[in-house]
Amino acid sequence: MCGIVGYIGAKNCVPILIEGLKRLEYRGYDSAGLGLINSDHCEVIKNKGKVAELEKLVHQKNIQSSLGIGHTRWATHGEPSVINAHPHVNKEKTLFLIHNGIIENYLSLKKGLEVEGYQFVSETDTEVLAHLIDHYLKLKNSLFHAVRYALNEVEGTYGIAVIYNGEKDKIVVAKKGSPLVIGIGENENYIASDVTALIAYTKQVVYLEDGEIAEITANSFKTKTILDEDIIKEINQVEVGIDDITKGGYPHFMLKEIMDQPGSIFNSMRGRLVFDEGISKLGGLQGFEERILNSRRIIISACGTSWHAGLVGEYMLEQYTGIPTEVDYASEFRYRNPIITKDDTVIFISQSGETADTLAALKEAKKKGALCLGVCNVVGSSIARESHAGVYIHAGPEIGVASTKAFTAQLVVFSLITLLIARSKSLSLQQGQEIICEMQNLTKKIETILKQNEIIEKIAEQYVDSKNFLYLGRGYNFPVALEGALKLKEISYIHAEGYPAAEMKHGPIALIDDNMPVVFIATKDYTYDKVVSNIQEVRARKGRILAIISEDDDQIEKMVDHVIRVPQTHSMLMPILTVIPLQLLAYHIAVKKGLNVDQPRNLAKSVTVE
Ligand code: M6R
Repeated sequence: MCGIVGYIGAKNCVPILIEGLKRLEYRGYDSAGLGLINSDHCEVIKNKGKVAELEKLVHQKNIQSSLGIGHTRWATHGEPSVINAHPHVNKEKTLFLIHNGIIENYLSLKKGLEVEGYQFVSETDTEVLAHLIDHYLKLKNSLFHAVRYALNEVEGTYGIAVIYNGEKDKIVVAKKGSPLVIGIGENENYIASDVTALIAYTKQVVYLEDGEIAEITANSFKTKTILDEDIIKEINQVEVGIDDITKGGYPHFMLKEIMDQPGSIFNSMRGRLVFDEGISKLGGLQGFEERILNSRRIIISACGTSWHAGLVGEYMLEQYTGIPTEVDYASEFRYRNPIITKDDTVIFISQSGETADTLAALKEAKKKGALCLGVCNVVGSSIARESHAGVYIHAGPEIGVASTKAFTAQLVVFSLITLLIARSKSLSLQQGQEIICEMQNLTKKIETILKQNEIIEKIAEQYVDSKNFLYLGRGYNFPVALEGALKLKEISYIHAEGYPAAEMKHGPIALIDDNMPVVFIATKDYTYDKVVSNIQEVRARKGRILAIISEDDDQIEKMVDHVIRVPQTHSMLMPILTVIPLQLLAYHIAVKKGLNVDQPRNLAKSVTVE
């Protein structure tokens, strides 16, 4: 993962780099560093821990510079430590390099460099790149071409930025498999892993593609491929504003993003519902409708929370379109030689649009001739650009590591795709209109749930000391059980499992005693009576039960310890409502345990390594 940022211009870059790193900290936060080059000296400052620690160190030193790069790390090769933190440097400490990705052939490159007398101090794969570029620089190449030659020897993924004391007027950046964006300013330019680090300064950006390299000065940028072919890049206008990436008065991004959901799901459906025809209109799929409708099969591929959204999507698509649909973990899909044909449509879901496994799965499906659709949040992200067509979820920037508003927006987009296909199949106008009406009412219904925040906080108090949790649901609420369990474990470090409620009797029931909280998602649908029986089974074994139930339910409250009520909606839309109390529950438990909910240990927002 890792976040990278850089500046060249007339200003002092130190606060710009620190601010940028703070915005990129969601990508990794185990160590951080800056590399600065001045007219009279150059310096690297690194620290273990968060960017705030680095900031203190930098303040003590009171340095200024108008050329610099910064990095926040998520360790892959080598433990989090000052030595392993970036930037990495050449022997003379005149060349500084930051890297996001993995150099897969670093051991063989390292051996070759050691033979030449290069010495290594860190355990990282990245250090190899610093020395390899140094090697080509010493062959009298310019920095740009030294980086280019070095990258031609590299296998793996990278987003890199390099500065060199011998060429103080430039930053050289390159990309393969890890994102890299150039921010265009006036007599100053920026680079970063993503636009959130830049938007306080510029809205004009250039996205590098895989295999591209750029030389950036204060007034210009030139781009080529690493094979030295000229390319012309388009300048894009970013729509995200600074308000979208601040906490807006909330104590955590996660809470802000949970509370944002009435607005984010509204944005994800805005302008896309055509009531008169009971259908959705998705500009990003225009021209591909026939191929989608005639698909022999739909495959959905994703990771983590996005995979859970895909599972709900499978239920929707199979129920309403009649097209066989399956969901696959991207990490499994990419390596097991899946049987894919040109008659298949594969939908890749990713909030960040940068998840390495999902991106690799997409490339595999594309190679096999399938129609590849991207469902992403981050505009211009790798998965969005690599797909044949797609739909943005428009949830707005999601910064908390635990995905919340992206999940509900992904479900909205699956509802829209389902409507689009199903109306051309057997869904009647009236059924289409019913779904649209329910979608339009979601915003208000979500607000009703969010108003219960304090009640949920009180319930959370009762469960803070629990060591394990089971989450159970059936039908559309089974993926919600998985998602509720994932939310809890990733931010509160409490072990939690999600199961289809009926599976409980095939094993997990053995775990139930008076110490085991069981969260049931038990809203009224075709599985209701069965779930009530499952609740009785847990009750008979003295399990502690928290149930998410329908607003008008008068049965379950008597059987369980706590209930949270949610309004009823169309069954396929229920997960958009039932997941919200579970997001709040996980949030409050984690806060009460004193944990950092926005940056949970070992995790990063955007998983750009396999
Ligand atoms: O950006 P993506 O949607 O591709 O990310 C996939 C997972 O890494 C992500 O959903 C992860 O599971 C979240 N931390 C869950 O909250």
